[in-house]
Amino acid sequence: MSNLWQPDHWRQFPAVQMPHYSDVDALANTRARLSQSAPLVFAGEADQLTRALGEVAQGRGFLLQGGDCAESFGHYHPDNLQQMFKVFLQMAMLLTFGAGCPVVKVGRIAGQFAKPRSSDVESRNGVDLPSYRGDIINDVAFDGAAREPDPTRMLRAYSQSAATLNFLRGLAQGGFASLHAVNRWNASFLDGSEMAPRYRAMNQQIDEALKFMQACQVDLDGGRLSGVELFSSHEALLLEYEEPLTRQDTESGRWYDTSAHMLWIGDRTRDPEGAHVNFLKGVSNPIGLKVGPTTSVDDLRRLLDVLNPDNTPGRLTLISRMGAHKVNEYLPALVQTVKRHGGAVVWSCDPMHGNTHTADGGLKTRHFDNIMAELKGFFAVHRAEGTHPGGVHIEMTGRDVTECTGGSQCLQDTDLSRQYESQCDPRLNASQSIELAFAIAELLKDERQG
Ligand code: PEP
Ligand code: CO
Repeated sequence: MSNLWQPDHWRQFPAVQMPHYSDVDALANTRARLSQSAPLVFAGEADQLTRALGEVAQGRGFLLQGGDCAESFGHYHPDNLQQMFKVFLQMAMLLTFGAGCPVVKVGRIAGQFAKPRSSDVESRNGVDLPSYRGDIINDVAFDGAAREPDPTRMLRAYSQSAATLNFLRGLAQGGFASLHAVNRWNASFLDGSEMAPRYRAMNQQIDEALKFMQACQVDLDGGRLSGVELFSSHEALLLEYEEPLTRQDTESGRWYDTSAHMLWIGDRTRDPEGAHVNFLKGVSNPIGLKVGPTTSVDDLRRLLDVLNPDNTPGRLTLISRMGAHKVNEYLPALVQTVKRHGGAVVWSCDPMHGNTHTADGGLKTRHFDNIMAELKGFFAVHRAEGTHPGGVHIEMTGRDVTECTGGSQCLQDTDLSRQYESQCDPRLNASQSIELAFAIAELLKDERQG
């Protein structure tokens, strides 16, 4: 990484997907306030995540990354956070137990506010307005004032992220999430499905293992079993927000984006010559890069050179989001490119973003079968290439929403409007998330047994 890099370095490069703020004074004022705000994460924590992901890159673990497509101001509530936290940890426990490997837990949370859009304009009944770009930028309501980008929203997003992270840290480390407790959390949202007895059987086996350890006088109240490590992540899309939160570590002299432990580059902003890549190349956090059917082998090679020049395991997670029908066609060449380059990346599968369609009633949805098909395709490609399918990246909630169809509840297009809460992409609900975790545990077990 060049010593000349500075947090505002990105301004020399073309920046797509960013709002135009007409109130330049409000923007300057917001930037000044953010640059005086406390960091949300510390350099040491980001390094710890890089090390954990380094293990995954070398085949010794699995990355579980998930949360809302977009956090919002309106749906912010501690109950929603707690429900999400619980289902996420239930998934992690299921994966750890089912697949017998360490699971690195990273939420799409505490900062996941900014959204890339396929069009700058939204038209309704002949009226054109700027597209909604996430609560950190403008408001979802379809009126001119609401859609005007407002820089002060960054301050509200920062405060909500700080409060969210504080609450999650308390839940993770304050005794609420000991292994013993997680194993006892109820999973009543599974009632009536064939997963319920399987889930209870796992609880019983973990209980027995804990009793055995207790009898062996293993300290269950301290150390790793007394809490969990949960990291935060979001797409580093709004660089006006990321830049003032990027700070130089006094000990190492390295730069860290302190808005989250891990940041990723989206499918629409990964131009090797663009602002987003030239911003994230300079920060020392672990970073993610979405790759899709339009990622060329040539671009990937350049991106590996720019984003992970030293080939540090754990520095870079490649998040494949191909679509169920394209994964077999497009992923092998990318995996082969990475192998030739030295290979020290985490390969994660985002089975959501390539599988979105509009249902008859007009709502965006994803079918559980397509999500599963992409995951299976991803595992099959890695098996053929001899590489490790190292993680999954999903949009999910702990709430009982009806946004994705299929799964053991057999949700149909006609169910979607019943409990559709997302302002952006459709998320897996609690039951669908657990079902997915069961399926991934099986895939991982097969992989480990060769
Ligand atoms: C997302 O993760 O919400 C997203 C927009 O994904 P992608 O960049 O892969 O389209
Ligand atoms: Co999304």
